[in-house]
Amino acid sequence: MKIERRDFLRKSLLIGSAALIAPRALFSQSPDAKIEILINEPIGTINPNLYSHFVEHLGGVVYDGIWVGERSKIPNIGGIRKELVDSLARIKPGVIRYPGGCFADQYDWRDGVGPRDKRPTRVNFWADTGYKAPDSYRQLNSGPQKYEPNAFGTDEFVRFCKLVGAQPYLAANVRTRDVRVFQEWLEYCNAPGGLTTLSSERAANGASNPHNVSYWGIGNESWGCGGDFLPEEYAVEFRKFTAWLPTFGVKLQLIGSGPNGGDTGWTRRFFTKLTEKGMGQLNKLYGWALHYYCGTTGKGIAAEFTENEWYDLIARSDRMESLIKDHWQVMGETDRDHKIKLIVDEWGAWHLQDPNVPAAYLYDYAGTLRDALISGVNLDTFQRHADKVAMANPAQLVNTIHSLFQAQEDRFTVTSNYHVFEMYMPHAGATAVRTEFIAPQVSFTRLDAARKEVPANFWGLNGSASIKGKTVTLTTVNPDARNVRETEINIGGARILSASARVLSSRDIHARNTFEDPHGLEPRDESMNVGTGGKLVYKFAPASVTRIQISIA
Ligand code: AHR
Repeated sequence: MKIERRDFLRKSLLIGSAALIAPRALFSQSPDAKIEILINEPIGTINPNLYSHFVEHLGGVVYDGIWVGERSKIPNIGGIRKELVDSLARIKPGVIRYPGGCFADQYDWRDGVGPRDKRPTRVNFWADTGYKAPDSYRQLNSGPQKYEPNAFGTDEFVRFCKLVGAQPYLAANVRTRDVRVFQEWLEYCNAPGGLTTLSSERAANGASNPHNVSYWGIGNESWGCGGDFLPEEYAVEFRKFTAWLPTFGVKLQLIGSGPNGGDTGWTRRFFTKLTEKGMGQLNKLYGWALHYYCGTTGKGIAAEFTENEWYDLIARSDRMESLIKDHWQVMGETDRDHKIKLIVDEWGAWHLQDPNVPAAYLYDYAGTLRDALISGVNLDTFQRHADKVAMANPAQLVNTIHSLFQAQEDRFTVTSNYHVFEMYMPHAGATAVRTEFIAPQVSFTRLDAARKEVPANFWGLNGSASIKGKTVTLTTVNPDARNVRETEINIGGARILSASARVLSSRDIHARNTFEDPHGLEPRDESMNVGTGGKLVYKFAPASVTRIQISIA
């Protein structure tokens, strides 16, 4: 069945507006929502790099999170935390971005290679930062989080990537180091052993085979901590950093430091300045990095929020959709064929550090079901824009911000976000297809800029779908904190044979995993009945992320 878009939207609007004014009881006999999966309307292949990660020398991310040291009692593989390796490998990470973040623009890769006992100690970018850091963190005056021992550097990072099956993505220092330092790092990583002095040095450090690093970021947040540049100034730096680079047979995928959230001026002015030197400059860019954190609510504590704050933050995370569309449109003003893709290499919610975690674990907290829904909203958005987004990395992998893991000494747990990544795995490499969601909106109250309560609403069901062979994968977020959303699911152009669901939900919207309760929030599998004629009706649980896999003929 091919649904005409105009016809479909007209019907959707009718259902949508009826739902807005009708009491729920009117729908008790039949589904009040509908999903149309249009498998004959492909959007693009979903890049497996949408499920990528980010590691920065910040708080407990590297030291303790990943690196425990070879002599640690904590099970490790050459110093790298084994439980993390095993859990991360299970969800097939695309790439891992490193060493920052803001840290990258003051890092010298040379500090982090060679015999560990000879590596220098340097002050970490995050040692003095007052940005959202608790007083207890500011008062610390020792430890690897403040004074970087460089025990974990390029070779350890690439080893970590190999252990988990990810590609490395390194960010060059544009603020405090020059082009030569960048080129030498590239040479150290990619030149075949014995070919140059630097590749021989790498071999002497234990890595005789080249690291073959393909993804390179040219700075990070160059509008801020990465140099406080104007977009025109950064475009000049970008041209200089990329004018000539040794490739050693590796296809280099260079990523420009893109905008902060909705700053389309940064995007437009960069592209305009870059191409003053000719349109050929565009060929140097593989991707344009967009960063967007939806922030926090209320007191900023991850696990303390009201129902209104639940909705407010999920709605704010949904801004990713318009950010992608807006920057894409502006990029297209110069890059008319859209060869350059968006790389959302920092995204997530960002709450305050949990006062109960040790001070050194900067911005660490256990995310809740609310964060899981935010993960679902973001991943679905990237999948719906599979033609535009080539990579996405939540900030960050472990022990900080929107993390997938918490690890402190011998304690380890996966967070709510991890489960969403696990559930979304079947989308990787599949073809995203247009999918329409019709459902009553959710309503709530939020605080406006003047801290006055104002009514607000947003969609009541959203998600994305993809197809691989004869399997359709549908992932859906139901933000309604209280109500089941009974939904008719149709696949235009195919017959439904069977279906099964995997659901992450809880009666408690604050549910989460902690060291004390590592299974506080886990997905459950559900079988589904397909009705006569391939009719599929499903009740999406309140406050849920759901994956439905459908076999079709
Ligand atoms: O992820 C934490 C920080 O947020 C990164 O270092 C920086 O790029 C961003 O502002």
